[in-house]
Amino acid sequence: MCGIVAVTGYKKALPILINGLEKLEYRGYDSSGIAIINSETNSITCNKAEGKLKNLISNLNDQNIPGTVGIGHTRWATHGKPELKNAHPHTDSAGTIAVVQNGIIENFQDLKNKLEKEGISFNSDTDTEVIPHLIERELNTLSKLNLENNGSTLLVAVRNVISDLEGSYALAVLWAEAPTSLVVARRQAPLIIGLGEGEFICASDTPAIANFTNIILPMEDEEIALLTPLGIEIYDSNNERQYRNPVSLKVSEQIMDKMNFKHYMLKEIYDQPGTAKNWLENYLIKNLENGQYQIKYPFDTKFLKSIERIEIIACGTSKHAAMVGSFLLEQFAGIPANVFYASEFRYSPPPLLPNTLTIGVTQSGETADTIAALDMEIKRRSSIDDKKFKPNLIAITNRKESSIGRQIPNIIDICAGIEVGVAATKTFFAQLLSFYGLAIKFAHIKCSRSSNEIDKLITELLKLPPIIEDLLEKHNKSSEKLAHDFFNIKDVIFLGRGINYPIALEGALKLKEISYIHAAGYPAGEMKHGPIALLDKKVPVISIASSGEVFDKVISNAQEAKARNSYLIGIAPEINGTEIFDYLMQIPSSNEWISPLLNIIPLQLLSYHIAAHRGLDVDQPRNLAKSVTVE
Ligand code: AGP
Repeated sequence: MCGIVAVTGYKKALPILINGLEKLEYRGYDSSGIAIINSETNSITCNKAEGKLKNLISNLNDQNIPGTVGIGHTRWATHGKPELKNAHPHTDSAGTIAVVQNGIIENFQDLKNKLEKEGISFNSDTDTEVIPHLIERELNTLSKLNLENNGSTLLVAVRNVISDLEGSYALAVLWAEAPTSLVVARRQAPLIIGLGEGEFICASDTPAIANFTNIILPMEDEEIALLTPLGIEIYDSNNERQYRNPVSLKVSEQIMDKMNFKHYMLKEIYDQPGTAKNWLENYLIKNLENGQYQIKYPFDTKFLKSIERIEIIACGTSKHAAMVGSFLLEQFAGIPANVFYASEFRYSPPPLLPNTLTIGVTQSGETADTIAALDMEIKRRSSIDDKKFKPNLIAITNRKESSIGRQIPNIIDICAGIEVGVAATKTFFAQLLSFYGLAIKFAHIKCSRSSNEIDKLITELLKLPPIIEDLLEKHNKSSEKLAHDFFNIKDVIFLGRGINYPIALEGALKLKEISYIHAAGYPAGEMKHGPIALLDKKVPVISIASSGEVFDKVISNAQEAKARNSYLIGIAPEINGTEIFDYLMQIPSSNEWISPLLNIIPLQLLSYHIAAHRGLDVDQPRNLAKSVTVE
């Protein structure tokens, strides 16, 4: 969602803020803005621009704002259109308090109504603007108690204000009267403090901090902190001062480099052989005594023995990975498994059943729906006094230090390295691998597969890196060519069956997200029950036909589309039956279990090239953001 960066120290704030915002722009790019305490005038200088960060940078071009304390924001619009007046920072009436916020203040309308009755007028349609006005009111009250105008007073004022806020937020506040101080606070939205030497930076995500320091202190939920160049004070929601050790940023959390690729997304698609290699090296460990491979996740897996069913909670692409995972867990490992949209799970959870494993899947580790659904599940299970119902939890994430990393003790870090493109590619691939690992583990624990079958799947996984490299080599140019013919289409249907049905969904989501072409994925056998009405020669059908159990069925379903004049693109090996396709994106013949990991590659490339051919902003598609920290 929105990105926040804030700094206090001895270096000029402006370049630090801009650098931080550049690294956070993936979180939202509807508008951006900065506020700095101008050290010459001891007043706040604010600058904002609609649209991408480059507009703000060009606004600021010749300005040299002196000052070492400031806040910055890149916005993903929730309350109020993506217009200049709604860009952050927002200020109080006198312009002496400035606030940036990421989240949603659910009771803002009530608060706004009250403030308006007191004579306050508002300049924006945002929920955030109530905050500086409330802080102003609070500071006025505190001044009557003869408190000094300093950071500690600002801290008290912000604490009093946030106790009246409902919803989730991360915020940073400046006050011209306390010119070296910054107050930051969070509730269910991430904030991380970076510790420099005599200076501190606070941001919604680590890339904004990495250029500054690699020592960080992630803030816990409901904490508030006062930052000055002299130090930081962190308090919990009971106003108890918190002391804990900082941690180091992983190297993979620091690198954001497009190398020679035109877009991050293409680079990240090309990262996937390395992602596979990394994952295999981390989790597939050879037993030196018997030479056999085993999955080794970094937590005690004894508790998996008692598990009788699995519930998986996720959103978007992560949900598609979870669907492949659930297929593997049920069909390969023999454990009943269900996948839920996190946003639905929260309000219609299934009845509680004993001995259930709950898996949360989120690449960012910050998706509000997923975090809240897991939180609810943890609470409702913990409230039952029967150990069969206790929460058994695993999180699959790319960000170990994120909210989910703090929420759930058993983490499978997918080790994909930072993903900048808003459309998930390599993180999807690594999430899939993590589910293969879990399915192997369960098949082993539950003895639901013979050692031979398990070894066969492991052998297929071990072969992946060069196969993915070949697929990239083979399909990059061909999908660029195909994109040339298809960049102007309006609708595309994706079909898959069995383990590849979620891949059809993911192929459609990728195309929609970055090319704005309408696309829908269906289980191939379902097409004749309705979607077939959409088909004609203007609607291409992309059909995933891997050899195995459902190959013939998928080919028959493709025939049905061909009979309606659709142009047929096949994602399939070159075997009997696939001559039906007008265009074949050839996949090497493989074990069906492993096929999703191969089939996704040409689909990612095709979506990328169609969007790039349409001249769109592939890495930052309209209306989207990399991590969705609002409900
Ligand atoms: C992926 O391409 C999307 N941008 C989106 O669907 C994403 O997968 C979803 O918002 C969930 O994100 P998460 O994995 O960080 O929880």
